[in-house]
Amino acid sequence: ESSFIHRFEPASRAGTTPLLLLHGTGGDENDLLGLGRMISPGSALLSPRGRVLEHGMPRFFRRLAEGVFDEEDVQRRALELGAFVDEARERYGIAAPVAVGFSNGANIAAALLLLKPDVLAGAVLLRAMVPLSDPPRAALTGKPILLLSGQDDPIVPASNSARLAALLSEAGANVSHKVLPAGHQLTQADVALASDWIGNVA
Ligand code: MLT
Repeated sequence: ESSFIHRFEPASRAGTTPLLLLHGTGGDENDLLGLGRMISPGSALLSPRGRVLEHGMPRFFRRLAEGVFDEEDVQRRALELGAFVDEARERYGIAAPVAVGFSNGANIAAALLLLKPDVLAGAVLLRAMVPLSDPPRAALTGKPILLLSGQDDPIVPASNSARLAALLSEAGANVSHKVLPAGHQLTQADVALASDWIGNVA
């Protein structure tokens, strides 16, 4: 079953890359539409709501504690999200999207990259962590990935985001990793860097 409650906005400008918007814990399918429009004006936007509930808060996979993931669920949910994207591409007639994920949404995007590399054309990972402790060897050759971390992020240790950047690079991705003077929340710098980056890869 790969049906997700979602929003879809068709492209309003030719030649733009579709975005797959993936919200953080407690968010929903509406949260990142504004961010998507800001960083890539005119792109088609596909924005699902995470199907896992934690005390009523939507997420994309189960966790045992903050930063401690139920990895079996991560795998299952990432594949489910991949199937949703493939189906949505047919239904809406869009190309492979660039994921734009925040926090839990960035973590499921990272899992999807490692488990099903062909689903995404690239990814903007905002405050992401290593999603799987023993990921398969993925083939991410040349895939553009922007990883933006916060130097004072209380949820994501610097060593963890550095490990994620290394993992993705070793799989062949073209990773740009920047550590911003920020915490877990997004800042104007995230928006500016993501816009620039998308403008250059898309
Ligand atoms: C997660 O559970 O994916 C991370 O702890 C980030 C979060 O959602 O707070």
